[in-house]
Amino acid sequence: MLRRDFLKVISILGFSLIFKIKEVKAEKGGKTMAFVEYKPINFKEVRPQLWQMDGISQKTMDEHIKLYEGYVAKYNECMKLLENLSDEEYNKANATYSLIRSIKVDITRAIGGIKNHELYFGHLGGKGGKPEGKLLEQIERDFGSYDRFLKELKATAMAARGWAWVAYDYNFKRLFIAIGDEQNTFPIWNATPILGIDVFEHAYFIDYGTARAKYLEAFFNSVDWKVVEKSFESLKL
Ligand SMILES: [Fe+2]
Repeated sequence: MLRRDFLKVISILGFSLIFKIKEVKAEKGGKTMAFVEYKPINFKEVRPQLWQMDGISQKTMDEHIKLYEGYVAKYNECMKLLENLSDEEYNKANATYSLIRSIKVDITRAIGGIKNHELYFGHLGGKGGKPEGKLLEQIERDFGSYDRFLKELKATAMAARGWAWVAYDYNFKRLFIAIGDEQNTFPIWNATPILGIDVFEHAYFIDYGTARAKYLEAFFNSVDWKVVEKSFESLKL
């Protein structure tokens, strides 16, 4: 490892070796970066029930986790590129093509791929049923009834090319069902997603072919509403 790279690792790890950080600062023309490599969640360890579901196979889960880990790798790669971007590249910033544009656009797909999948895997592996408590109250207030909510959510998932989300919107003070055609399309500001349904074909093609509605049935039979209720309650509205 080059001495320069070694010092960079030290600065990334956040050790307070001031004199060495000073050297890194000098090398980067006075700029320091705070990027810390993101590590994928080990879902096999923290959520083994994902591999014990009735309607979504272990093979689908194994393949799906590989895709998630790919998004993590690309996020780290993009951040490293940004960290090391030369002044020449900064000066070449251009809206038709430039390296900084490419990184800034594509990193949003990686970040979406991480956050969407962590949400999705985090509330799968349950027994389905129906939400209770404050979440059910909010659903009934915002959608009239749980059945009405479910109808809209299932139809949104059928109409999406990538994702259907249930998010709490802080401006409108209500739950909103949102659609995503990609990991990074149609997000709405100032809203927190509490439920996500992956409807990319990789989420169901091994088990159901093109029959997405059957996969959605399996999803709702495997969703852990307790996790979704907890996410909603953690918003402290
Ligand atoms: Fe996915």
